[in-house]
Amino acid sequence: MIELRDVVKSYPAGEERLTVLNGVNLLLKPGDFATIAGPSGSGKSTLLHLIGALDKPDRGCVLFDGSDVAYLNDRAAAQLRNRSVGFIFQSFHLIPVISALENVAYPMVLAGVPAAQRRERAQVLLDKVGLTKFAHARPGKLSGGQRQRVAIARSLACSPRLVLADEPTANLDHNTAIGIMDLLLQLNQSEQITFLFSTHDSTVMSYAKRSLRLREGLIVEDPQGQPHV
Ligand SMILES: Nc1ncnc2c1ncn2[C@@H]1O[C@H](COP(=O)(O)OP(=O)(O)O)[C@@H](O)[C@H]1O
Ligand SMILES: [Mg+2]
Repeated sequence: MIELRDVVKSYPAGEERLTVLNGVNLLLKPGDFATIAGPSGSGKSTLLHLIGALDKPDRGCVLFDGSDVAYLNDRAAAQLRNRSVGFIFQSFHLIPVISALENVAYPMVLAGVPAAQRRERAQVLLDKVGLTKFAHARPGKLSGGQRQRVAIARSLACSPRLVLADEPTANLDHNTAIGIMDLLLQLNQSEQITFLFSTHDSTVMSYAKRSLRLREGLIVEDPQGQPHV
């Protein structure tokens, strides 16, 4: 479903350029539950941004179901992000002045879903992440784990087949992180949603069905994986 071929990405750094990804190849298959590890600055967020059509490579292809994301115009890229990809971030990125329900419904506003349908689906998604009673709470009234559950529900609003999670447990304590990973694994298994996580949290890595690592601009894969028991 996702294929990266010889992807190069650099950023300006003073007079020079810093090459972050230097010929990355990756094939993500439907149903994958994969982690990308690597120290801070190794390019994990850069990689997720390219896969999620938030940015474009200098060279190489990022193929989503066979179409090259690099050639999408801004509108088509926005539509791909809205309809086909869900995003979960380290710091949740919820809108503080609206309720949990409205946050979950927001991507459906962008997708043109009618209001009654949006509310109904947002409530179903909040039920699914265990927040039935918190639909009308604003993010400021919720714990970190609850906020991340709202963000997970929001990431699923438009029924994406792929969810990209950028260090999703980095601001959570160990037990909360376990709860979040159990939930994501359950969604992966029950709804066949493909997940790709960046992380350096060993809790997250212990759940991976595929373990990838960024090293010197390239992806290396641990052939064993680390199946969660
Ligand atoms: N927009 C940008 N402009 C310039 N440099 C950037 C930009 N985004 C990231 N970088 C640099 O690219 C490198 C990789 O960043 P990033 O992908 O965020 O790594 P990670 O998520 O693994 O910590 C870092 O050295 C970072 O400073
Ligand atoms: Mg990062």
